[in-house]
Amino acid sequence: MKICVLPGDGIGPEITAEAVRVLKALDLAVEMEEALLGGCAVDATGDPYPEATQKLAQAADAVLLGAVGGPKWDSYPREQRPERGLLGIRKQLGLFANLRPAILYSELANASTLKPDVVAGLDILIVRELTGDIYFGQPRGIEVRNGERFGLNTMHYTESEIRRILRVAFEAARKRSRKVCSVDKMNVLECTQLWRDVAIETGREYPDVELSHMLVDNAAMQLVKNPRQFDVMVTGNMFGDILSDEASMLTGSIGMLPSASLDANNKGLYEPCHGSAPDIAGKGVANPLATILSVAMMLRYTFVNDAAARRIEDAVKKVLAQGFRTGDIYEPGMKQVGTREMGDAVLAAL
Ligand code: IPM
Ligand code: MG
Repeated sequence: MKICVLPGDGIGPEITAEAVRVLKALDLAVEMEEALLGGCAVDATGDPYPEATQKLAQAADAVLLGAVGGPKWDSYPREQRPERGLLGIRKQLGLFANLRPAILYSELANASTLKPDVVAGLDILIVRELTGDIYFGQPRGIEVRNGERFGLNTMHYTESEIRRILRVAFEAARKRSRKVCSVDKMNVLECTQLWRDVAIETGREYPDVELSHMLVDNAAMQLVKNPRQFDVMVTGNMFGDILSDEASMLTGSIGMLPSASLDANNKGLYEPCHGSAPDIAGKGVANPLATILSVAMMLRYTFVNDAAARRIEDAVKKVLAQGFRTGDIYEPGMKQVGTREMGDAVLAAL
């Protein structure tokens, strides 16, 4: 198993280090090599996704990413922003299927800002299309038209792009509660009328899975009103970006949530849902559990090793049950620990 490790910026290097320790402790035949992505890559080479990283990422079976970005690079030209590196690697590797689970750990029920009876037992999987939509559509840019500045982006999807992400959602639902909710804005946007039409057509291939449809504004509302009505939600790149942040916050602990971005052959990039948290970078207090759980997703999806994935997930549940908490999930009476100690606790539990 060849893994390309991209620690990235901010807390990225700290949390990735713990995930790498956990992976090593499993004694699997893994080969890991590190490279630069994001702001650190811009600083070193001027390019957020340099050639050397591209080569390594293309040759690897899986990529483990910490996080990219930070205020330092916000004023840089667009092609030199860390986010460009992330969008670049997703597009280049064809990682079109982004899986973002939002699970409420019973030990952390109080972390949510929603009432416990609304979120208890929450287990949603957001399937977000990741290489199309308004994120990548041409034409785009800021130009001058009729003497004033004019901003332009283009939303588009082909039916094959829609069909392949819908299939990922239906397949995932078959391993869960067999319910898919497809999210669009067909009352206004033609592109998403096509999305709905193709969703309905694809749904006929999966008669055992219940398909429903929801407009994105209503979906945003339903997520806070009654989130447990959802099992798998599938949507485009832009809506998925927004709804996945919303869903992760239902759990109150974005520091716990992993994600996978897969190509058609289950090669994947695995990263925590949270960002680079520059405010706490280098302090050794960041929560490494989302990155550690991302390793579990890697083992499950790319390396098809469910047993190893479960070992990691069980170890994480055990440290929570033992009362270990980083600052983001701390409650009075628990044992507050830093990044390294949390990693130690997971290793001990393994
Ligand atoms: C995410 C992030 C990225 C996105 C940014 C950093 C480019 O918000 O992974 O959700 O918009 O996809
Ligand atoms: Mg986002």
